[in-house]
Amino acid sequence: MQKKAILDLDTGIDDALALAYALGSPELEVIGVTTTYGNVLLETGAANDLALLELFGAPEVPVYLGEPHAQTKDGFEVLEISAFIHGQNGIGEVELAKAAAAAQPGAVDFLISSVKEHGDDLVIIATGPMTNLSAAIAKDETFADNAHIVIMGGALTVPGNVSPWAEANINQDPDAANDLFRSGAEVTMIGLDVTLQTLLTKKHTAQWRELGTPAAIALADMTDYYIKAYDTTAPHLGGCGLHDPLAVGVAVDPSLVTLLPINLKVDVEGETRGRTIGDEVRLNDQVRTSRAAVAVDVDRFLNEFMTRIGRVAAAN
Ligand code: BDR
Ligand code: CA
Repeated sequence: MQKKAILDLDTGIDDALALAYALGSPELEVIGVTTTYGNVLLETGAANDLALLELFGAPEVPVYLGEPHAQTKDGFEVLEISAFIHGQNGIGEVELAKAAAAAQPGAVDFLISSVKEHGDDLVIIATGPMTNLSAAIAKDETFADNAHIVIMGGALTVPGNVSPWAEANINQDPDAANDLFRSGAEVTMIGLDVTLQTLLTKKHTAQWRELGTPAAIALADMTDYYIKAYDTTAPHLGGCGLHDPLAVGVAVDPSLVTLLPINLKVDVEGETRGRTIGDEVRLNDQVRTSRAAVAVDVDRFLNEFMTRIGRVAAAN
């Protein structure tokens, strides 16, 4: 059966790829995009989402504005490293036509009402900071018990990417991610453990370029920018990490990864602030509300990725 999906994005090049993956997946019906800050400011991310939805032939998908910064902070500024990896505009300095549609306020309310309305038929895929999800949990006491969430974030068996402990999405708002893990919501964590194994190279993007459509060229251009940044920041990898698309891939087909049932928490104090780790307080609980991906079928995922992105790229 087709599942309804909401993408909570801080768009971002790999968020853009995640959006294309979702739209290219017949198993998912994207009912909305909620926006968060992170790779870019909230408004920039929303503008990117709107422009990408139009480029990908889905201008009817609504975009909702979320929280502009962590609740524990007064504001948000894009980190230098984020701008280096994703470009100042978040999409590798690729210029897209401004969308005709506008974003609406109310991401948190949209998340809450969608979980109420669709329950088990809905998956929320969050690929930025967890601030909107934490706000939904705080605002509606039934949200956590009924939500099914796949996140890109965290690092359980490998070091972080912004500090030795912390992965970028968790690092933006460790308190929110901790709220999420401890809320009892069903959370599947797709962290650096697996996303740094799924790598894309210019050989792949050249296949899109050959398609010659506006969507294919834009996707190839922004992803080449991302690959170039990875060549500088992580030359040992030999490609760019497909972080956010893998979260969508697992929402479609969980068998792409090996999932470890574990009650997770995030360190919110001291120098390990932002670390995702097992919650010692719930170590012996029979119920494990979260699952962390610890292995991935790389070849199968890359194949799915190229097929699904290729579908959107070829048609638009
Ligand atoms: C995550 O951080 C962001 O920069 C990416 O879009 C991805 O969601 C990787 O750590
Ligand atoms: Ca992201």
